[in-house]
Amino acid sequence: MNALQDKIILVTGASGGIGQEASSMFAAAGAKVMMLDLNEQALTEAAATISAAGGVVEPISINITDEHQVSQVIDGIVERHGRLDGAFNNAGIEQSNKPLHELPRASWDKVIAVDLTGAFLCMKHEIRVMLKTGGGSIVNTASGLGVVAAEAASDYIAAKHGVIGLTKAAAIDYAKLGIRVNAILPGIVETPMIMRLSGEPAFTSQFEAMRERHPMGRFAQPAEIAAGVLWLLSDASSFVTGASMPIDGGFLAV
Ligand SMILES: NC(=O)c1ccc[n+]([C@@H]2O[C@H](COP(=O)([O-])OP(=O)(O)OC[C@H]3O[C@@H](n4cnc5c(N)ncnc54)[C@H](O)[C@@H]3O)[C@@H](O)[C@H]2O)c1
Repeated sequence: MNALQDKIILVTGASGGIGQEASSMFAAAGAKVMMLDLNEQALTEAAATISAAGGVVEPISINITDEHQVSQVIDGIVERHGRLDGAFNNAGIEQSNKPLHELPRASWDKVIAVDLTGAFLCMKHEIRVMLKTGGGSIVNTASGLGVVAAEAASDYIAAKHGVIGLTKAAAIDYAKLGIRVNAILPGIVETPMIMRLSGEPAFTSQFEAMRERHPMGRFAQPAEIAAGVLWLLSDASSFVTGASMPIDGGFLAV
């Protein structure tokens, strides 16, 4: 029996590095994957690739900062499939790469809107339907920077610390109601986000130092992150809730 057989699983950021790999892995594990992303063209291509490999996926274009869209999309999934069994709230954007005293208010607002408020809005409406349809498992993508800091990333660090807090708060609110809520804390993962950051002067100077901060001496591949999420979404992790699980090559152990 596949770990996610016939489960209805939602993934946000589904055409990005981690989200696309996760969608593909969940589909291969038997799930029907609702692939949500802002980038419609990349989403269409990602969904077509997974379908061609035999996966069952639905691409759904969304901006997770818009509550009306989030609510409508989640209601639509329940109308079409009868329930929502799991959600991987993973969409996010990178830090503005500025020291705090130079961080424009607009940059702060944008990172908080996507990385923290977006996760809140998705959780809110996922939980609303899961309470009616028999519970489920939610996994939020935080970061190692949800626990420790790095240079020139105060907006992202504040948002990801918030995601861990939200995860714990929701875990205890719904622990007796059949909904588990956990966070993953990736170290650096080789994705388009990191490629964008690596072009930034403030990050380039830190790049090798960041690799050295990972005791394994390398960055992750998206599949190494997705495998942990798959376990948290599956019934194999049935007693795990409120956890912040590092998947980071030892980054947080130092
Ligand atoms: N790559 C890393 O090193 C790393 C490390 C720790 C945590 N993370 C987190 O992992 C998650 C995925 O990152 P990734 O590296 O795959 O990045 P990515 O840029 O490859 O993918 C992010 C995806 O989110 C989508 N997105 C952005 N804003 C959105 C919005 N408003 N509504 C809907 N979709 C939106 C983008 O279109 C993109 O497809 C993010 O939350 C990120 O903060 C990444």
